[in-house]
Amino acid sequence: MTEVVIQDLTKRYGAAAAVDSISLSISEGEFVSLLGPSGCGKSTTLRLVAGFDQADAGKILFDGQDVSPLPPERRDIGMVFQSYALFPHMTVAQNLAFGLQMRKAPRAVIEERVARALDLVRLDGKADRYPRELSGGQQQRVALARALVIEPRILLLDEPLANLDAKLRDEMRLFIGELQRRVGITTIYVTHDQAEAMNMSDQVVVMFKGRIEQRGSPRDIYERPNGLEVATFIGQANFLSATVTVDTGRLMAQTALGTRPLPPESDASPGQVLSVLVRPEALTLTDSAAPGAVSGVVELAQYNGAFTEYRIRLADQETVCVQTPGPARHSRGVGVGLRLAMDPLWPIGSDA
Ligand SMILES: Nc1ncnc2c1ncn2[C@@H]1O[C@H](COP(=O)(O)OP(=O)(O)OP(=O)(O)O)[C@@H](O)[C@H]1O
Ligand SMILES: [Mg+2]
Repeated sequence: MTEVVIQDLTKRYGAAAAVDSISLSISEGEFVSLLGPSGCGKSTTLRLVAGFDQADAGKILFDGQDVSPLPPERRDIGMVFQSYALFPHMTVAQNLAFGLQMRKAPRAVIEERVARALDLVRLDGKADRYPRELSGGQQQRVALARALVIEPRILLLDEPLANLDAKLRDEMRLFIGELQRRVGITTIYVTHDQAEAMNMSDQVVVMFKGRIEQRGSPRDIYERPNGLEVATFIGQANFLSATVTVDTGRLMAQTALGTRPLPPESDASPGQVLSVLVRPEALTLTDSAAPGAVSGVVELAQYNGAFTEYRIRLADQETVCVQTPGPARHSRGVGVGLRLAMDPLWPIGSDA
């Protein structure tokens, strides 16, 4: 297993930096996702780690060894792309054997490793099929097996599920997560799909415009985003204006939906006006008459199958989104009540 360290890595195309001085440490066996909008530099970062592109500045270390001067084939990485890029004229077994043959592995070793890799991705019966005879999900599993069969130090995955339909993507997500834990290989996974990153990763690295905006566990990123951009990119977010108060020595956020504690690490000062993050699941919808509820008016009700999403306008004109299971029970223009969970509120920035 291998530890990966990226130091001040920069890649420019013309005047623009696709990757702008990023630093990142990935522990042995860790599953790290690079998550961010299109064009933020995820694939470029991965290509630099793989060695397909040369950095303009910075270093990449595998277990302390600077691999920057090494070509891809000497970096000992396994890579899977969005397009499966299987050799169409070779059978599954031949696709898998190819990398080992290039490395001049003995025939017996090749046979054994190919069989093991096929078993790993549960395709043992398909060794003699051609890629065109397989489904998209099966082809992507072959691509995974082909990346793993060489027993690389690091697994690099660039949107490997993007070409699959939604159901298959869910299945493969579970499959890749399980496989990675079983093999225990250090993995960097590129995606712009936040659910994918949250589901599978030990750590999520959020990138914007060639830079790392935040790195943390999926929970950190969701519950404690370090700014407006991360908060809105990951899941649904409401922002409420809050005034900082003090109650028995504890900093509180006073909002239109009630007063709740600020997290202990907050450095806000009493009287300050902040924005706080309220995720839709922290809100419950009630009849306006319910005690302790704050009243609002339904501005929009959108049914999505599993849940209905409401936009509610509060008395102070702020709006919030709430989700309730099942079909819409309140229609536009109707008065409702809102209840905010008792949890601390995460500050997202100062209101100017
Ligand atoms: N070969 C290249 N020549 C010029 N510009 C490039 C090249 N490769 C990438 N870029 C630019 O660098 C930036 C980052 O691209 P990159 O492919 O890393 O983004 P990404 O985060 O992977 O996006 P996506 O989610 O769309 O795949 C983009 O602005 C892109 O246009
Ligand atoms: Mg990309």
